[in-house]
Amino acid sequence: MPLDERNIAQKIREEHEHMKEEMARIKGMIGAEIPAGGYAKWRMDLLWTLRDFCTDMQKHFDLEEEGGFMHDVLRVAPHRSSAVEKLEDEHEQIQEGLEAVLRDLKAVEEQDEEKIARVCSDIQAIFDLIATHEEEESDLMMSTYMQDEGGGD
Ligand SMILES: [Fe+2]
Ligand SMILES: [Fe+2]
Repeated sequence: MPLDERNIAQKIREEHEHMKEEMARIKGMIGAEIPAGGYAKWRMDLLWTLRDFCTDMQKHFDLEEEGGFMHDVLRVAPHRSSAVEKLEDEHEQIQEGLEAVLRDLKAVEEQDEEKIARVCSDIQAIFDLIATHEEEESDLMMSTYMQDEGGGD
């Protein structure tokens, strides 16, 4: 049974805002200088924050894929099916990317600037992908639900 569409759209929008805040927080963590002797704590904090973010993203994708939004797009705007497929592919890409950086960060047991810089730039690349992904999704969501409401049936 699909959830109420206004609730889904509202929930997805709220989650997008929450993701933005979390990404800004993580960017702050990776942008900050690691204090002398503080690498182990920095790495653990970042690991846990990324782990939570990864789980939140997974739940967010569950909501988008299973909560009715993508079905609604296909119902209201079947010609946008390739956009839906692209979003689903990106969900996988984002998830795999986040899992990979978690693995990579765990592998950097000692403070190695070059390896840390690589992990941080990988995180940044995933965040860039998430930002464009959510933007396209918001457009699709807006046109889907506005069209649906304007349809008058
Ligand atoms: Fe998405
Ligand atoms: Fe999303």
